[in-house]
Amino acid sequence: MTDVHLCIEVDGEAAGSISILFKQDVNRRSAEIGYFLGQQFWGRGITTAAVVALTEYAFANFDLCRLYAVVFAPNVASARVLQKAGYELEARLHRSITKDGQTMDSLLFAMVK
Ligand SMILES: CC(C)(COP(=O)(O)OP(=O)(O)OC[C@H]1O[C@@H](n2cnc3c(N)ncnc32)[C@H](O)[C@@H]1OP(=O)(O)O)[C@@H](O)C(=O)NCCC(=O)NCCS
Repeated sequence: MTDVHLCIEVDGEAAGSISILFKQDVNRRSAEIGYFLGQQFWGRGITTAAVVALTEYAFANFDLCRLYAVVFAPNVASARVLQKAGYELEARLHRSITKDGQTMDSLLFAMVK
C-alpha cells in the first residue's frame, strides 16, 4: 500500500506534515503515524487535531487494526499530543535511540481497533 503524506495547512500556509507509513507482510494491519509542525505554530492544538483526524481517516479507509508512533522520551510535547489524541502508552524502549551522540529511551504509543 502507498504511504500517505499530507501537508498541515494553517491559513493557506504550509505549516507542517503528517504521514502514515504502512507496514507489510505479517505487520500489514499496522501502520506508523509521524508528524512535525513549524515552531511558530506550536501550542495551538494543531498537531493533536491533525493526529485525531488522520487516525479516524486511516481506520475508516484502510484495513488497519493498529496505529502506532515512537517518540523520543524527552519529547514531552509529542507524547502529550498522542495522549490527547487517545493513544495509549504501551512501552518504554530503553536506550533505543541515539541522536547527536546521546543515547536515550523512546516511548511506544498505539491505538488499537
Ligand atoms: C511535538 C509537536 C508535533 C507538537 O505540536 P503542537 O501542535 O504544538 O501540539 P499541540 O498544541 O497539539 O499539543 C502540545 C501539548 O504538549 C504540551 N507541551 C508542549 N511542550 C511541553 C513541555 N516542554 N512539557 C510539557 N508539556 C508540553 C502542550 O502544553 C500541549 O498540551 P496541553 O494541550 O495539554 O497543554 C511539535 O512540537 C513538533 O513538530 N516538534 C518537532 C518535531 C517532532 O517532535 N515531531 C514528533 C516526532 S515523534
